[in-house]
Amino acid sequence: MQNPKTLISEDEIRKRVDELAAQISLDYADKGELVLVGVLKGSFIFLADLSRRLSIPRHIEFIAVSSYRYGSTRSGAVRLVMDMRRSIEAKNVLIVEDIVDTGHTLDYLIKMLKSRNPASIRTCTLLHKEHSAEVDVQIDYCGFSIGDEWVVGYGLDYDEKDRTLPYIGVIEPDD
Ligand code: PRP
Repeated sequence: MQNPKTLISEDEIRKRVDELAAQISLDYADKGELVLVGVLKGSFIFLADLSRRLSIPRHIEFIAVSSYRYGSTRSGAVRLVMDMRRSIEAKNVLIVEDIVDTGHTLDYLIKMLKSRNPASIRTCTLLHKEHSAEVDVQIDYCGFSIGDEWVVGYGLDYDEKDRTLPYIGVIEPDD
């Protein structure tokens, strides 16, 4: 089977993650510990790389959500399937996503986590499908804006395949 066509190379990812980490480190300098909340599963590789390049104190948490969908179409309904272990009350929180597509997942997470009274909430996504937005959602740090294509690799999958590709590739889904 052929590998997916490269959309964003390993090198481009590395450079952009460096830039994001530098910006985040600057913005949160002297603000105490930052809680990075990785949204499973897709964010695990981005979170691992980003978190290791920060020069500020940080703490890692994970959260998992599930979106209801029909084939490759999402309904917009999101539910929490795994919560984080520690309280985020009075903490600075950065939600880390691999991709924002319709925006429903991030919108749900921001609202839910805000209700837990953190000191602040910001969001960081590696990829943003700007033209697929169904809700207007706050994105504070964005790696790359992409078109409406199905992307895999660097944590993103198609039917659980290709998550561990080292680059972002494009595929044609079957449905
Ligand atoms: C992806 C991604 C986001 C969500 C974004 O997760 O990791 O959480 O979709 O889509 P939205 O903006 O349309 O809500 P997915 O449901 O594919 O699960 P996974 O991360 O476990 O692969």
